[in-house]
Amino acid sequence: MKIITKTLLNISLLLIAATLNAQFYAESINDIKVPKNFIWGTALSEYQVSGAAYCRNSNWSDFETTLPERSGDACQFWQRYKDDIALMKQMGVQSLRFSVEWCKIEPTEGKFDADALQHYVDVCDALLQANITPMITLHHFVHPSWFEQKDGFADPANIHYFERYCAYVFEHLSDKVHLWCTINEPTIFTFQGYARGVFPPGRTNLISAWHVLRNMIHAHTRVYHKLKGMKNGKDAQIGLVHQYLKFHSYTSWNPLEMIPGLLFNALLNDSVMEFLKTGEFNGWFGVHYNAHTTKNNDFIGLNYYSRATIKASLDLSNPVDAAHYPDEIMTDMPYAIYPQGFYDALIDLKALRIPIYVTENGIADAKDEHRDLWIRSYLAAMDKAIADGADVRGYYYWSIMDNFEWDMGYEKKFGLIEVDRQTQERKIRTGAQFYVAVLQNALANSNSI
Ligand code: BGC
Repeated sequence: MKIITKTLLNISLLLIAATLNAQFYAESINDIKVPKNFIWGTALSEYQVSGAAYCRNSNWSDFETTLPERSGDACQFWQRYKDDIALMKQMGVQSLRFSVEWCKIEPTEGKFDADALQHYVDVCDALLQANITPMITLHHFVHPSWFEQKDGFADPANIHYFERYCAYVFEHLSDKVHLWCTINEPTIFTFQGYARGVFPPGRTNLISAWHVLRNMIHAHTRVYHKLKGMKNGKDAQIGLVHQYLKFHSYTSWNPLEMIPGLLFNALLNDSVMEFLKTGEFNGWFGVHYNAHTTKNNDFIGLNYYSRATIKASLDLSNPVDAAHYPDEIMTDMPYAIYPQGFYDALIDLKALRIPIYVTENGIADAKDEHRDLWIRSYLAAMDKAIADGADVRGYYYWSIMDNFEWDMGYEKKFGLIEVDRQTQERKIRTGAQFYVAVLQNALANSNSI
Protein backbone atom coordinates (compact mmCIF):
# COMPACT_ATOMS: atom_id res chain seq x y z
CA MET A 1 0.00 0.00 0.00
CA LYS A 2 2.78 2.38 1.02
CA ILE A 3 4.64 1.64 -2.20
CA ILE A 4 1.53 2.28 -4.30
CA THR A 5 0.86 5.60 -2.56
CA LYS A 6 4.48 6.61 -3.00
CA THR A 7 4.45 5.69 -6.67
CA LEU A 8 1.21 7.59 -7.27
CA LEU A 9 2.63 10.58 -5.48
CA ASN A 10 5.77 10.51 -7.56
CA ILE A 11 3.80 10.13 -10.80
CA SER A 12 1.64 13.13 -9.94
CA LEU A 13 4.73 15.17 -9.06
CA LEU A 14 6.21 14.30 -12.43
CA LEU A 15 3.03 15.26 -14.26
CA ILE A 16 2.87 18.58 -12.48
CA ALA A 17 6.51 19.30 -13.29
CA ALA A 18 5.99 18.40 -16.94
CA THR A 19 2.87 20.57 -17.33
CA LEU A 20 4.44 23.55 -15.61
CA ASN A 21 7.50 23.43 -17.82
CA ALA A 22 5.56 22.83 -21.02
CA GLN A 23 3.93 26.26 -20.99
CA PHE A 24 7.25 28.03 -21.55
CA TYR A 25 8.56 27.86 -25.07
CA ALA A 26 9.14 30.64 -27.60
CA GLU A 27 8.44 29.33 -31.12
CA SER A 28 9.74 32.54 -32.64
CA ILE A 29 11.36 35.76 -31.53
CA ASN A 30 7.99 37.47 -31.94
CA ASP A 31 6.81 35.51 -28.90
CA ILE A 32 9.13 37.57 -26.72
CA LYS A 33 7.74 40.99 -25.96
CA VAL A 34 9.76 43.31 -23.80
CA PRO A 35 9.30 46.95 -22.80
CA LYS A 36 10.80 49.81 -24.76
CA ASN A 37 14.52 50.37 -24.02
CA PHE A 38 14.92 46.82 -22.76
CA ILE A 39 18.59 45.84 -22.72
CA TRP A 40 19.70 42.56 -24.26
CA GLY A 41 23.17 41.67 -23.05
CA THR A 42 25.64 39.03 -22.05
CA ALA A 43 27.86 38.65 -18.99
CA LEU A 44 31.32 37.57 -17.90
CA SER A 45 33.65 38.01 -14.95
CA GLU A 46 37.30 38.99 -15.30
CA TYR A 47 38.81 36.10 -13.40
CA GLN A 48 36.82 33.54 -15.36
CA VAL A 49 37.95 34.86 -18.75
CA SER A 50 41.45 36.09 -17.90
CA GLY A 51 42.47 33.57 -15.26
CA ALA A 52 45.12 33.59 -12.56
CA ALA A 53 47.77 34.54 -15.11
CA TYR A 54 46.23 38.01 -15.29
CA CYS A 55 44.71 38.13 -11.80
CA ARG A 56 47.59 37.17 -9.53
CA ASN A 57 47.69 37.81 -5.81
CA SER A 58 44.04 37.17 -5.28
CA ASN A 59 42.04 34.84 -3.05
CA TRP A 60 41.27 32.73 -6.12
CA SER A 61 44.79 32.55 -7.59
CA ASP A 62 46.02 31.45 -4.15
CA PHE A 63 43.21 28.94 -3.63
CA GLU A 64 43.17 27.31 -7.04
CA THR A 65 46.64 25.86 -6.49
CA THR A 66 44.75 23.20 -4.49
CA LEU A 67 42.35 22.37 -7.34
CA PRO A 68 42.72 19.65 -9.97
CA GLU A 69 42.31 22.17 -12.79
CA ARG A 70 43.86 25.65 -12.79
CA SER A 71 42.61 28.69 -14.67
CA GLY A 72 45.91 29.61 -16.39
CA ASP A 73 45.33 32.43 -18.84
CA ALA A 74 41.71 31.37 -19.51
CA CYS A 75 40.45 33.10 -22.70
CA GLN A 76 43.09 35.86 -22.46
CA PHE A 77 40.26 38.36 -22.38
CA TRP A 78 42.55 40.90 -20.68
CA GLN A 79 44.53 41.23 -23.91
CA ARG A 80 41.93 40.12 -26.47
CA TYR A 81 39.04 42.31 -25.31
CA LYS A 82 39.04 44.48 -28.46
CA ASP A 83 38.50 41.49 -30.77
CA ASP A 84 35.94 40.01 -28.41
CA ILE A 85 34.02 43.27 -28.26
CA ALA A 86 34.07 43.40 -32.09
CA LEU A 87 32.54 39.91 -32.13
CA MET A 88 29.91 40.96 -29.58
CA LYS A 89 29.04 43.92 -31.76
CA GLN A 90 28.68 41.66 -34.76
CA MET A 91 26.29 39.46 -32.78
CA GLY A 92 24.18 42.47 -31.81
CA VAL A 93 25.01 42.48 -28.07
CA GLN A 94 23.66 45.71 -26.54
CA SER A 95 25.28 45.53 -23.14
CA LEU A 96 28.11 43.66 -21.43
CA ARG A 97 28.15 42.93 -17.72
CA PHE A 98 31.76 42.43 -16.64
CA SER A 99 33.70 42.65 -13.40
CA VAL A 100 36.45 45.05 -12.49
CA GLU A 101 39.12 43.10 -10.61
CA TRP A 102 40.02 44.56 -7.23
CA CYS A 103 43.31 42.63 -7.18
CA LYS A 104 44.35 44.52 -10.34
CA ILE A 105 43.17 47.94 -9.15
CA GLU A 106 44.66 47.69 -5.65
CA PRO A 107 47.24 44.88 -5.75
CA THR A 108 48.85 46.12 -2.54
CA GLU A 109 46.86 47.61 0.31
CA GLY A 110 46.34 51.33 -0.31
CA LYS A 111 48.36 51.40 -3.59
CA PHE A 112 46.15 51.90 -6.61
CA ASP A 113 47.51 50.83 -9.98
CA ALA A 114 46.98 53.55 -12.61
CA ASP A 115 47.67 51.15 -15.51
CA ALA A 116 45.01 48.72 -14.35
CA LEU A 117 42.53 51.56 -14.01
CA GLN A 118 43.45 52.76 -17.51
CA HIS A 119 42.84 49.26 -18.82
CA TYR A 120 39.24 49.43 -17.60
CA VAL A 121 38.84 52.95 -18.99
CA ASP A 122 39.93 51.49 -22.35
CA VAL A 123 37.54 48.54 -22.05
CA CYS A 124 34.65 50.93 -21.34
CA ASP A 125 35.65 53.14 -24.27
CA ALA A 126 35.85 50.16 -26.60
CA LEU A 127 32.39 49.03 -25.47
CA LEU A 128 30.89 52.48 -25.86
CA GLN A 129 32.39 52.85 -29.32
CA ALA A 130 30.77 49.55 -30.26
CA ASN A 131 27.45 50.85 -28.89
CA ILE A 132 27.55 48.30 -26.08
CA THR A 133 26.44 49.61 -22.68
CA PRO A 134 28.88 48.65 -19.91
CA MET A 135 27.54 47.21 -16.65
CA ILE A 136 30.23 46.84 -13.98
CA THR A 137 30.35 44.32 -11.15
CA LEU A 138 32.67 45.48 -8.37
CA HIS A 139 33.11 42.11 -6.66
CA HIS A 140 32.62 38.81 -8.47
CA PHE A 141 33.98 36.23 -5.99
CA VAL A 142 37.55 37.59 -6.25
CA HIS A 143 39.52 40.04 -4.11
CA PRO A 144 43.20 40.76 -3.38
CA SER A 145 45.27 38.35 -1.30
CA TRP A 146 46.06 41.12 1.20
CA PHE A 147 42.33 41.55 1.86
CA GLU A 148 41.92 37.79 2.30
CA GLN A 149 44.88 37.73 4.70
CA LYS A 150 43.01 40.21 6.87
CA ASP A 151 40.16 37.66 6.90
CA GLY A 152 38.21 39.30 4.06
CA PHE A 153 34.50 39.70 4.61
CA ALA A 154 34.65 37.47 7.69
CA ASP A 155 35.77 40.52 9.66
CA PRO A 156 33.31 43.43 9.60
CA ALA A 157 36.20 45.78 10.37
CA ASN A 158 37.41 45.17 6.78
CA ILE A 159 34.33 46.55 5.04
CA HIS A 160 35.88 49.99 4.72
CA TYR A 161 38.61 48.58 2.43
CA PHE A 162 35.97 47.36 0.03
CA GLU A 163 34.14 50.67 0.27
CA ARG A 164 37.34 52.59 -0.54
CA TYR A 165 38.10 50.44 -3.60
CA CYS A 166 34.52 50.77 -4.90
CA ALA A 167 34.58 54.55 -4.46
CA TYR A 168 37.89 54.73 -6.36
CA VAL A 169 36.53 52.76 -9.32
CA PHE A 170 33.27 54.70 -9.29
CA GLU A 171 35.07 58.03 -9.17
CA HIS A 172 37.03 57.17 -12.32
CA LEU A 173 34.46 55.27 -14.36
CA SER A 174 31.05 56.67 -13.49
CA ASP A 175 31.25 59.25 -16.29
CA LYS A 176 31.12 56.33 -18.70
CA VAL A 177 29.17 53.70 -16.76
CA HIS A 178 25.66 54.01 -15.33
CA LEU A 179 24.88 50.43 -14.38
CA TRP A 180 26.70 49.15 -11.29
CA CYS A 181 26.49 45.83 -9.45
CA THR A 182 28.12 45.94 -6.04
CA ILE A 183 28.57 42.29 -5.09
CA ASN A 184 27.84 39.20 -7.13
CA GLU A 185 25.91 36.54 -5.23
CA PRO A 186 26.92 36.98 -1.57
CA THR A 187 24.98 33.78 -0.80
CA ILE A 188 26.92 31.60 -3.24
CA PHE A 189 30.24 33.15 -2.19
CA THR A 190 29.39 32.39 1.42
CA PHE A 191 27.96 28.94 0.92
CA GLN A 192 30.77 27.72 -1.32
CA GLY A 193 33.59 29.39 0.60
CA TYR A 194 32.48 29.04 4.21
CA ALA A 195 29.97 26.15 4.37
CA ARG A 196 31.05 23.72 1.61
CA GLY A 197 34.67 24.88 1.49
CA VAL A 198 35.01 24.51 -2.29
CA PHE A 199 35.71 28.22 -2.89
CA PRO A 200 38.30 30.28 -1.03
CA PRO A 201 38.94 30.40 1.85
CA GLY A 202 37.86 26.73 1.92
CA ARG A 203 36.17 26.77 5.32
CA THR A 204 33.33 24.58 6.52
CA ASN A 205 31.79 26.44 9.39
CA LEU A 206 28.13 27.22 9.15
CA ILE A 207 28.16 29.83 11.88
CA SER A 208 30.90 31.79 10.23
CA ALA A 209 29.03 31.47 6.87
CA TRP A 210 26.10 33.37 8.41
CA HIS A 211 28.47 36.07 9.67
CA VAL A 212 30.13 36.47 6.28
CA LEU A 213 26.77 36.73 4.54
CA ARG A 214 25.64 39.39 7.00
CA ASN A 215 28.90 41.32 6.51
CA MET A 216 28.57 41.20 2.74
CA ILE A 217 25.01 42.49 2.87
CA HIS A 218 26.26 45.24 5.17
CA ALA A 219 29.16 45.97 2.77
CA HIS A 220 26.74 46.22 -0.14
CA THR A 221 24.56 48.68 1.76
CA ARG A 222 27.50 50.85 2.73
CA VAL A 223 28.87 50.90 -0.79
CA TYR A 224 25.44 51.67 -2.23
CA HIS A 225 24.98 54.73 -0.02
CA LYS A 226 28.59 55.85 -0.46
CA LEU A 227 28.35 55.75 -4.27
CA LYS A 228 24.93 57.41 -4.32
CA GLY A 229 26.49 60.34 -2.47
CA MET A 230 29.31 60.77 -4.97
CA LYS A 231 29.42 62.72 -8.24
CA ASN A 232 27.25 60.84 -10.81
CA GLY A 233 25.76 58.81 -7.95
CA LYS A 234 22.22 60.07 -8.39
CA ASP A 235 22.20 59.20 -12.10
CA ALA A 236 23.79 55.80 -11.61
CA GLN A 237 21.75 52.63 -11.17
CA ILE A 238 23.33 50.58 -8.40
CA GLY A 239 22.21 47.18 -7.17
CA LEU A 240 23.08 43.91 -5.51
CA VAL A 241 23.20 40.71 -7.56
CA HIS A 242 21.38 37.82 -5.94
CA GLN A 243 21.23 34.27 -7.21
CA TYR A 244 17.66 33.18 -6.57
CA LEU A 245 18.04 29.53 -5.65
CA LYS A 246 15.34 27.45 -4.04
CA PHE A 247 15.96 24.02 -2.61
CA HIS A 248 13.27 21.49 -3.03
CA SER A 249 12.91 17.95 -1.68
CA TYR A 250 12.59 15.15 -4.19
CA THR A 251 9.74 13.66 -2.22
CA SER A 252 7.28 15.54 -0.08
CA TRP A 253 7.62 13.19 2.90
CA ASN A 254 11.29 12.54 3.62
CA PRO A 255 12.67 14.62 6.52
CA LEU A 256 16.22 13.76 5.41
CA GLU A 257 15.53 15.86 2.33
CA MET A 258 13.33 18.47 3.95
CA ILE A 259 15.57 19.43 6.87
CA PRO A 260 18.69 20.28 4.82
CA GLY A 261 16.34 22.15 2.48
CA LEU A 262 15.24 24.39 5.35
CA LEU A 263 18.80 25.38 6.17
CA PHE A 264 19.88 25.82 2.54
CA ASN A 265 16.83 27.90 1.69
CA ALA A 266 17.39 30.15 4.69
CA LEU A 267 21.08 30.72 3.96
CA LEU A 268 20.91 30.83 0.17
CA ASN A 269 17.70 32.65 -0.49
CA ASP A 270 15.23 33.60 2.18
CA SER A 271 17.51 35.70 4.40
CA VAL A 272 18.58 37.89 1.48
CA MET A 273 15.05 38.12 0.11
CA GLU A 274 13.87 39.24 3.52
CA PHE A 275 16.62 41.84 3.67
CA LEU A 276 15.67 43.13 0.23
CA LYS A 277 12.02 43.40 1.25
CA THR A 278 12.41 44.82 4.76
CA GLY A 279 15.96 46.21 5.14
CA GLU A 280 16.56 43.68 7.95
CA PHE A 281 18.79 40.65 7.79
CA ASN A 282 17.95 37.85 10.22
CA GLY A 283 20.38 34.99 10.02
CA TRP A 284 20.55 31.85 12.12
CA PHE A 285 22.52 31.81 15.38
CA GLY A 286 21.34 35.34 16.17
CA VAL A 287 23.25 36.93 13.28
CA HIS A 288 21.43 40.17 12.57
CA TYR A 289 21.79 43.43 10.63
CA ASN A 290 19.38 46.30 10.22
CA ALA A 291 19.93 48.83 7.44
CA HIS A 292 17.03 50.93 8.85
CA THR A 293 15.82 51.57 5.32
CA THR A 294 14.59 49.52 2.38
CA LYS A 295 16.19 51.93 -0.10
CA ASN A 296 19.44 50.05 -0.57
CA ASN A 297 19.16 49.25 -4.27
CA ASP A 298 18.14 51.11 -7.42
CA PHE A 299 17.57 47.75 -9.06
CA ILE A 300 17.98 44.13 -8.17
CA GLY A 301 20.27 41.94 -10.26
CA LEU A 302 18.78 38.47 -10.60
CA ASN A 303 20.95 35.50 -11.44
CA TYR A 304 18.71 32.55 -12.11
CA TYR A 305 19.67 29.06 -13.26
CA SER A 306 17.43 26.42 -11.74
CA ARG A 307 16.14 24.93 -8.52
CA ALA A 308 18.17 22.45 -6.51
CA THR A 309 16.37 19.17 -5.96
CA ILE A 310 17.59 17.28 -2.91
CA LYS A 311 17.33 13.53 -2.64
CA ALA A 312 18.30 11.50 0.39
CA SER A 313 21.04 9.03 -0.41
CA LEU A 314 22.18 5.84 1.30
CA ASP A 315 25.79 6.96 1.00
CA LEU A 316 26.42 8.17 4.55
CA SER A 317 29.43 10.24 3.55
CA ASN A 318 27.14 12.16 1.21
CA PRO A 319 23.64 11.83 2.71
CA VAL A 320 21.90 14.28 0.38
CA ASP A 321 22.41 14.45 -3.32
CA ALA A 322 21.50 16.80 -6.15
CA ALA A 323 18.78 15.05 -8.12
CA HIS A 324 16.23 15.55 -10.86
CA TYR A 325 12.99 13.90 -11.94
CA PRO A 326 13.19 11.39 -14.79
CA ASP A 327 11.26 13.60 -17.21
CA GLU A 328 13.44 16.65 -16.63
CA ILE A 329 16.24 17.59 -18.98
CA MET A 330 19.55 17.93 -17.22
CA THR A 331 22.20 20.52 -17.93
CA ASP A 332 25.90 19.71 -17.45
CA MET A 333 25.56 21.22 -13.99
CA PRO A 334 23.81 19.22 -11.25
CA TYR A 335 20.44 20.79 -12.06
CA ALA A 336 17.73 20.54 -14.68
CA ILE A 337 16.20 23.01 -17.13
CA TYR A 338 13.49 24.67 -15.05
CA PRO A 339 11.98 27.83 -16.55
CA GLN A 340 9.06 27.73 -14.11
CA GLY A 341 11.48 28.67 -11.32
CA PHE A 342 12.69 31.66 -13.35
CA TYR A 343 9.10 32.87 -13.70
CA ASP A 344 8.50 32.35 -9.97
CA ALA A 345 11.69 34.24 -9.03
CA LEU A 346 10.74 37.22 -11.20
CA ILE A 347 7.26 37.31 -9.67
CA ASP A 348 8.72 37.12 -6.15
CA LEU A 349 11.12 39.99 -6.93
CA LYS A 350 8.25 42.07 -8.32
CA ALA A 351 7.28 42.69 -4.68
CA LEU A 352 10.43 44.82 -4.24
CA ARG A 353 8.96 47.47 -6.57
CA ILE A 354 12.32 48.27 -8.11
CA PRO A 355 13.55 47.44 -11.61
CA ILE A 356 14.94 43.98 -12.20
CA TYR A 357 17.89 43.16 -14.42
CA VAL A 358 18.46 39.50 -15.14
CA THR A 359 22.20 39.71 -14.66
CA GLU A 360 22.87 36.01 -15.38
CA ASN A 361 21.00 33.16 -16.99
CA GLY A 362 22.42 30.43 -19.19
CA ILE A 363 23.21 26.76 -19.57
CA ALA A 364 26.32 24.61 -19.31
CA ASP A 365 25.94 22.33 -22.29
CA ALA A 366 29.18 21.04 -23.80
CA LYS A 367 27.38 19.13 -26.55
CA ASP A 368 25.22 22.14 -27.40
CA GLU A 369 22.16 19.87 -27.36
CA HIS A 370 19.86 21.90 -25.13
CA ARG A 371 21.08 25.48 -25.36
CA ASP A 372 18.41 26.41 -27.89
CA LEU A 373 15.69 24.89 -25.67
CA TRP A 374 17.05 26.66 -22.60
CA ILE A 375 17.05 30.03 -24.31
CA ARG A 376 13.58 29.64 -25.83
CA SER A 377 11.99 28.38 -22.62
CA TYR A 378 13.64 30.81 -20.20
CA LEU A 379 12.92 33.80 -22.44
CA ALA A 380 9.30 32.63 -22.68
CA ALA A 381 9.15 32.42 -18.88
CA MET A 382 10.54 35.95 -18.62
CA ASP A 383 8.03 37.14 -21.22
CA LYS A 384 5.18 35.76 -19.09
CA ALA A 385 6.59 37.36 -15.93
CA ILE A 386 6.79 40.72 -17.74
CA ALA A 387 3.20 40.31 -18.94
CA ASP A 388 2.27 39.58 -15.31
CA GLY A 389 3.84 42.80 -14.07
CA ALA A 390 7.51 42.09 -13.33
CA ASP A 391 9.49 45.24 -14.12
CA VAL A 392 12.33 43.57 -16.02
CA ARG A 393 14.64 46.06 -17.73
CA GLY A 394 17.32 43.81 -19.16
CA TYR A 395 18.57 40.26 -19.65
CA TYR A 396 22.23 39.16 -19.69
CA TYR A 397 23.00 35.71 -20.98
CA TRP A 398 25.69 33.85 -19.01
CA SER A 399 28.10 33.69 -20.56
CA ILE A 400 29.31 35.35 -23.72
CA MET A 401 32.08 32.74 -23.96
CA ASP A 402 33.23 29.48 -22.36
CA ASN A 403 35.30 30.20 -19.28
CA PHE A 404 36.76 28.96 -16.00
CA GLU A 405 33.89 27.59 -13.94
CA TRP A 406 35.63 28.02 -10.58
CA ASP A 407 36.06 24.72 -8.69
CA MET A 408 34.60 22.89 -11.71
CA GLY A 409 37.27 24.03 -14.15
CA TYR A 410 36.87 24.21 -17.92
CA GLU A 411 34.60 21.23 -18.51
CA LYS A 412 31.44 23.30 -18.10
CA LYS A 413 30.65 25.15 -21.31
CA PHE A 414 28.34 28.10 -20.70
CA GLY A 415 29.39 30.14 -23.73
CA LEU A 416 27.32 31.51 -26.58
CA ILE A 417 30.79 31.48 -28.07
CA GLU A 418 32.90 28.32 -27.95
CA VAL A 419 36.54 28.96 -27.10
CA ASP A 420 39.32 26.62 -28.15
CA ARG A 421 41.87 27.22 -25.41
CA GLN A 422 44.75 25.77 -27.43
CA THR A 423 44.34 28.22 -30.31
CA GLN A 424 42.14 30.80 -28.56
CA GLU A 425 39.84 30.57 -31.56
CA ARG A 426 36.26 31.76 -30.99
CA LYS A 427 33.20 30.25 -32.69
CA ILE A 428 29.54 31.17 -32.18
CA ARG A 429 27.61 28.04 -31.19
CA THR A 430 24.64 26.79 -33.21
CA GLY A 431 22.58 26.70 -30.00
CA ALA A 432 23.18 30.44 -29.63
CA GLN A 433 21.42 31.31 -32.88
CA PHE A 434 18.03 32.00 -31.33
CA TYR A 435 19.58 34.47 -28.92
CA VAL A 436 21.56 36.07 -31.74
CA ALA A 437 18.27 36.45 -33.63
CA VAL A 438 16.75 38.13 -30.55
CA LEU A 439 19.75 40.48 -30.39
CA GLN A 440 19.57 41.32 -34.08
CA ASN A 441 15.85 41.89 -33.87
CA ALA A 442 16.27 44.17 -30.88
CA LEU A 443 18.84 46.16 -32.79
CA ALA A 444 16.34 46.62 -35.57
CA ASN A 445 14.09 47.83 -32.74
CA SER A 446 11.00 45.93 -33.74
CA ASN A 447 10.18 44.05 -30.55
CA SER A 448 9.02 46.80 -28.21
CA ILE A 449 5.53 46.89 -26.72
C1 BGC B 1 28.33 32.89 -10.99
C2 BGC B 1 29.21 32.68 -12.20
C3 BGC B 1 29.18 31.21 -12.60
C4 BGC B 1 27.76 30.86 -12.95
C5 BGC B 1 27.55 29.47 -13.50
C6 BGC B 1 27.06 32.09 -10.99
O1 BGC B 1 26.90 31.56 -9.72
O2 BGC B 1 28.08 34.26 -10.80
O3 BGC B 1 30.48 33.15 -11.91
O4 BGC B 1 30.06 30.94 -13.64
O5 BGC B 1 26.96 30.99 -11.80
O6 BGC B 1 27.72 28.49 -12.54
